[in-house]
Amino acid sequence: MPTDKRILGIETSCDETGASLLSLQKNHLTVESNILASSLSLHAKTGGIIPEIAAREQLKYIIPTVAKAIEKQREIDAIAVTYGPGLIGSLLIGVETARTLSYVWKKPLIPVNHLLGHIYANWINKSLHTIEFPAVALIVSGGHTDLLYMKDKTTLQWIGGTRDDAAGEAFDKIGRLIGLASYPAGPAVENAAKKGDPKRFMFPRPLIHSEDFDFSFSGLKTAVLKTVQNISHLDEQTKCDIARGTEDAIVDVLVAKITRAVKTYNPKSILLGGGVAANSKLQQQLEYFANAHSLALSVPEKQFCTDNAAMIAACAFFNYDERRWMDIDSNPELYFA
Ligand code: KG4
Ligand code: ZN
Repeated sequence: MPTDKRILGIETSCDETGASLLSLQKNHLTVESNILASSLSLHAKTGGIIPEIAAREQLKYIIPTVAKAIEKQREIDAIAVTYGPGLIGSLLIGVETARTLSYVWKKPLIPVNHLLGHIYANWINKSLHTIEFPAVALIVSGGHTDLLYMKDKTTLQWIGGTRDDAAGEAFDKIGRLIGLASYPAGPAVENAAKKGDPKRFMFPRPLIHSEDFDFSFSGLKTAVLKTVQNISHLDEQTKCDIARGTEDAIVDVLVAKITRAVKTYNPKSILLGGGVAANSKLQQQLEYFANAHSLALSVPEKQFCTDNAAMIAACAFFNYDERRWMDIDSNPELYFA
């Protein structure tokens, strides 16, 4: 781990273009700038991301975004960039920009796995000693649902993940199915669920009792689809009731698998990361569980749950692996090594 350094993070794995300056001083990680541009509104029209459009927008935003991030402070020690997983067209924009800047500025490059970035978001604007180990970490995003055991800050073991749809994907697809919002639908499902009747729809909780740490959410989506097909008119209250049934099912499964991981690994902390970590019901249930078991629960600030570049720089501090610009390539299929 380097001391007293400043890293420029670059994130372009999907539809967000991010650049952020993060500095480490006296064991504290401080965000000096955090700029985010998004092509989300374009994808909202189609109800999902069109990779070609996402890549074109990345190209438009990347230079202004980086320029803004370093407007007030140009002294940096290294550049960290997401090199996977993600959409190849989007990843390439960030990686090629980072390689060029590394060559021109003569600064080392640090490749970052986007998924790990979601975990290290837990240290943003905090002390390096803020989390006690061992820990169990859950990444819940639009593309991934993964459980990891962390022996210490940098020793991670993947223990389970989704066999089909990710939790965020289930929120998005079901939200769209009931016409709640376009894309992404997670926050809209959460809002509608607040007005929903918890007893009206009892949807399946796939794999909740399986003796592993795996997830599956595609069956839930099918169950909601069948329910919707049997309803002649989807009024507002019914939408809220379906949203409630959906949120309860997803949160129940996530909490059950964390409970299983806690029983197996006996950690001191639980870490959340990824867009779905912003869900209040999930946070409340885990808070309740953590308190009952004398565990610490860490959730990133809301703006650092969803995709951002500060988390990429944070991850680079913990996994400080300097490379030359010519030694880094995009890897859309990257997972856990
Ligand atoms: O981490 P993220 O920004 O992007 C990926 O790496 O995928 O996560 C986006 C996902 C979307 O599926 C979105 O619907 C979901 O996070 N999400 C939420 C909430 N806020 C974002 N899901 C449920 N409740 C929320 N409040
Ligand atoms: Zn993400």
